Amino acid sequence: MTKTILITGAGTGIGKDTAFALAQRGHRVLATTQTEAQALNLKQAANEQGLLLEAFKLDITLKEDQALLAQHHVDVLINNAAMGESGSLAEVDMQRVRQLFEVNLFATLELTQVALRQMIERESGTVLFISSIAGRVPMPFLMPYSMSKFALSAAAAGLRAEMDQLKKNIHITVIEPGAIHTGFNQAMTDSKYAWMGPSSYFAHQAEAMKKQERITFNWLEAKTTRSIVNAIVKASEAKRPRLRYVAPWIQGFGVRLARILGV
Ligand SMILES: NC(=O)c1ccc[n+]([C@@H]2O[C@H](COP(=O)([O-])OP(=O)(O)OC[C@H]3O[C@@H](n4cnc5c(N)ncnc54)[C@H](OP(=O)(O)O)[C@@H]3O)[C@@H](O)[C@H]2O)c1
Repeated sequence: MTKTILITGAGTGIGKDTAFALAQRGHRVLATTQTEAQALNLKQAANEQGLLLEAFKLDITLKEDQALLAQHHVDVLINNAAMGESGSLAEVDMQRVRQLFEVNLFATLELTQVALRQMIERESGTVLFISSIAGRVPMPFLMPYSMSKFALSAAAAGLRAEMDQLKKNIHITVIEPGAIHTGFNQAMTDSKYAWMGPSSYFAHQAEAMKKQERITFNWLEAKTTRSIVNAIVKASEAKRPRLRYVAPWIQGFGVRLARILGV
C-alpha cells in the first residue's frame, strides 16, 4: 500500500537517498529541506531520475514551517533533520549545545506534535526518529551531539509507550544509523576547531586528534547509505514497526558489545 511520507532534512545525505528510495517504491513523498534552494535542487535531481516527488522548504525550528505539515495527510513522518556539534563538555560554549538541542530534540518533538495531532484524530500513523548509535554509547568530544541523540532515543521509546496506551494505532520507531559517509561526521568533528584556541584544555593534542578522527571515520564509515535507507524504508512500510532499527548491522553489534563491556 502506498503512503504519504514526509521527511525532514531531505536536501542531502541519508534524507535525500531515503526520499528517492521511497519515491521509487511508489509512495507520495513530501521531501522537505532547510532552504528553498535545496528544495529546488532536490526537485531537479528527482526530475532527472524520472521520480515524482514534492519538495518544499520546512525549517523544523520555525513554527510557520512546522505548520505546513498540517496541510497534508501524513501517514509517516521521518524526523531526519539534524545538526552536529563537537568539542569537550569541559569548555564548549553552552549556547552551541542549546542550539543543537533546539534542532535535534525540541524542534523535532514540536514537529512530531503537529503530526501526532492529525494521526491521533485519524487513528493511524507512524513517526520515525533518526537518532544514532552515538545515542547509545557516549562519545568523547562528540558529546553535544551524542547527548542530543541519547535524549532523542529516550524520547522516542517513552513516546512509543504513551502511544501504545492510547490504542490509536500510532507507531513510534527509532532508527539508529552507525557511521555513514555523507560528510556529516567530518563537518561535526571539525566544528570544534573553529573555536578551540590556544587556551583550550586540549590545544596540545588538537593536531593529533584531527588526524585520528580522519583515520577513524575513514575506516569506520559505511561508504554508501544503502543499509540505513533500507532500514528506514522497511520501518516506514511496516504495519507494526519495531522500536529500534540499527544499520549497518556490524556497527550495531559493536555498540551492543560496548554496552555489555560497560564502555
Ligand atoms: N552520517 C552518519 O554517520 C550518521 C550517523 C548517525 C546518525 N545520523 C543521522 O542521520 C540524519 C541525516 O544525517 P546525514 O548523515 O544525512 O547528514 P546531512 O546530509 O547533513 O543531513 C542532515 C540534514 O538536516 C538538515 N537540517 C539541519 N537543520 C535543519 C533544520 N533546522 N530544518 C530542516 N533541516 C535541517 C541539513 O540541512 P543543511 O545541509 O542545510 O544543514 C541536512 O540536509 C541525521 O539525523 C544524523 O544525525 C547520521
